[in-house]
Amino acid sequence: MKEVLTNPTAGYYMNRDVFGQTGDFITSPEISQMFGELIAVWLVNEWTKCGRPTPFQIAELGPGRGTLMADILRVFSKFKIAGSDFSVSLVEVSPYLTQVQEKQLSPRQAQEATKLPQGSQHYKQSISFYGSQVRWYNHIADLPRTFTLFLAHEFFDALPIHKLVKVDQGWREVLIDLNREDLTLRFVISRDRTPACLYRLDNESREELEVSPQSLIITQAMAARIHQDGGIGLVIDYGHEGDKTDTFRGFKNHKLHDPLVDPGTADLTADVDFSALKWAATHPRTFEDWKANLTFGTVDQKDFLTRVGINLRLEQLLASCRDEDVALNLKSAHKMLTDPMEMGSKFKFLALYPSVMEKILERYPPPGFV
Ligand SMILES: C[S@@+](CC[C@H](N)C(=O)[O-])C[C@H]1O[C@@H](n2cnc3c(N)ncnc32)[C@H](O)[C@@H]1O
Repeated sequence: MKEVLTNPTAGYYMNRDVFGQTGDFITSPEISQMFGELIAVWLVNEWTKCGRPTPFQIAELGPGRGTLMADILRVFSKFKIAGSDFSVSLVEVSPYLTQVQEKQLSPRQAQEATKLPQGSQHYKQSISFYGSQVRWYNHIADLPRTFTLFLAHEFFDALPIHKLVKVDQGWREVLIDLNREDLTLRFVISRDRTPACLYRLDNESREELEVSPQSLIITQAMAARIHQDGGIGLVIDYGHEGDKTDTFRGFKNHKLHDPLVDPGTADLTADVDFSALKWAATHPRTFEDWKANLTFGTVDQKDFLTRVGINLRLEQLLASCRDEDVALNLKSAHKMLTDPMEMGSKFKFLALYPSVMEKILERYPPPGFV
């Protein structure tokens, strides 16, 4: 999965635009500005609850086309939060998408002035339309140490999983093998235990499951930063609470695609196990010095968006809309984002807070989650 998606030369994400009508799938920020605007207002609200520390950073993992961040920066500027108040840190592996994000977020002259200081942790830098520094990083561990608003929208579902299955002898891993007769790929069960079988499987009642160690490591890194430097995390994705078994699949031209056919030409994805992310956010690795964080959720996208005001935002946009086609698009975007039969129930929201905020959150719980 890692090779197919992020191999430097042939990886699915590395050299093409995979989003939208002409791509393989569409994501919520691409459907409507309402999505990013409501997330931005939520972030301003929660940052205010923390005492409005400055300077801070907004760190987005896997920003895609940069649309969500562009909507967020526009809303922040309306609240007069801009310039040196904060910086934008983008964790992105794809050189192609890095360019798309830069065009979306920065004026042309800023894009051309990209000389990096020696020894920088980031691989690219620019200035946003609203005067804030934008920097690109390969890994969450490289981000600057400061108060951080973390965002991960449809990021964790792109990280590699291991498939495990219970057989008579115990847990084994499902591997991918080459069928020598016709040179096709096929699933096989490992003869012995593999390192992935060391995953904590006590009390596991499922006979088959998917685990994503990379997701756990990244969540622990985010949780450590939230505890040590202050911050909040918002994770949005399709997923489950540790009860699903087989969700690994491919997407090509908006249709399901066999992941073993023409690898590299289709998106590969698996539902996010939110119960595992919550475990990682509240369990430091033994050598690390941070305490358990607080987690809220998951809640369904429909509930989150409705509670933070998507219906009101739709009304406002419709009231100022003079074009019938635009009005129809707004209504259909609202339906797509919130209808339980579309994205409303499939997508979930999870929030992470440092444990020092426990008392504040008892009085003022995170909007959208209650
Ligand atoms: C499914 S797209 C989601 C894009 C965007 N968040 C959205 O919702 O429109 C996944 C994003 O994560 C990036 N990505 C995938 N694996 C990554 C990794 N290991 N590290 C950093 N970025 C990664 C992809 O290049 C892409 O930008």
